[in-house]
Amino acid sequence: MAESGLSAERVQRNLMLMRAAARGDVDECKALLKPSGDGEWDGSADVWYAEDDDVGWDALHYAADGGHVRVVSLLLRHGALWNTVDNLGYTAAEVAWTRNHSKCYSEIFEHGVRQTFLADLLLRKSGVANRIDPQEEDTAHIEESENGTEVIIVPGTNNEVQASNQAFLASRLKFFRDERGGWRCLDQDDNMVMAEWENDIMRHSAAALCEGQPEGFSVLNVGFGLGIVDEFFQKYKPGRHVIIEPHPDAIAFMKQNGWDKREGVEIFEGTWEHFMLDYERAATLGSFDAIYFDTYSQEYEDLRKFFDVLPNFLNGPDSRFSFFHGLAATNQFLYDVYTRVSELDLREIGFDTTWSIVYPEVHPDTWNGVKRSYWTLDAYYLPIARMQI
Ligand SMILES: C[S@@+](CC[C@H](N)C(=O)[O-])C[C@H]1O[C@@H](n2cnc3c(N)ncnc32)[C@H](O)[C@@H]1O
Repeated sequence: MAESGLSAERVQRNLMLMRAAARGDVDECKALLKPSGDGEWDGSADVWYAEDDDVGWDALHYAADGGHVRVVSLLLRHGALWNTVDNLGYTAAEVAWTRNHSKCYSEIFEHGVRQTFLADLLLRKSGVANRIDPQEEDTAHIEESENGTEVIIVPGTNNEVQASNQAFLASRLKFFRDERGGWRCLDQDDNMVMAEWENDIMRHSAAALCEGQPEGFSVLNVGFGLGIVDEFFQKYKPGRHVIIEPHPDAIAFMKQNGWDKREGVEIFEGTWEHFMLDYERAATLGSFDAIYFDTYSQEYEDLRKFFDVLPNFLNGPDSRFSFFHGLAATNQFLYDVYTRVSELDLREIGFDTTWSIVYPEVHPDTWNGVKRSYWTLDAYYLPIARMQI
């Protein structure tokens, strides 16, 4: 038995698949993937198998590295995992990208979009809420100690409040100024809820939503945080400015800063689900020319649910919607996939989305004292969605 727990014969076949994938030998790959036995193991190579070395590539990484599109699509059809990262954190698509194999990149990208879209659809159909961020380490798992003599339980991010909206809303928030005088809001686990590095994104989002709106227009912001986007909305003098915010500490911060006394501002204390999924409460909210969505400790499914009710709250085809697009924003490839998936989901409910690019300035000390950075990319894709006419 090899370390993987597989028989030597099976490992051998898996290694042969990797070599064939690296050479671009489609026929050999086909032959290796075919069942050839009738024992416990059917004799076919395991398409998911990753090499047990420092890099940890699977057959898809090898095929992508060589630019072998036909092998890439064969492996994907046989269930190769499109979003598996190697030991350095790279997906096969990223390997293809760095080698300029754009066809291979597109093949894996389109497959990823279809899979994510489908997974989301199945989850919605089955009513099962689940995380679909493929990179998320959300479950506790067991690891061997360094000397291999004992097992240790490593808590997953599930134990952090950011993994559950309910837990987050019941926990305390910390609001404070950093060394450069900028405001920060951290949750109880020192994960960042909001900070001023997002100023550029918020400014551009407010501009995209508010510029050219009629006098006295109405805007809804879901999730106050530090109120950065709200401050930018105010510059456009909305007639009605509604803020939905459930967290007691965020509400307290908002009131300390006088938001409850600003003209035209209405604060709805509670979750967006509370106000927007209930027919009667929804009526008290009204409808808007612009809507922005940026919550915390919620998943893509929550955003997708928001999309479903969105048309009920927009004034008409000239109204605009945007959301903070931080989906999988620590990996360019997965970020691209979510960009496309959210666009497809918005299209499904009758919205066209345009994307503009913002290059936020992220100071090197931004993540000091923060448990995990949620943003590592250069370009932010800013969505603006409108109803199709
Ligand atoms: C990232 S911050 C928003 C930052 C804001 N865009 C800004 O410019 O400062 C997220 C906010 O969403 C709020 N939130 C979390 N869950 C929510 C929910 N279910 N409904 C509405 N707001 C929620 C959090 O309490 C937090 O204040």
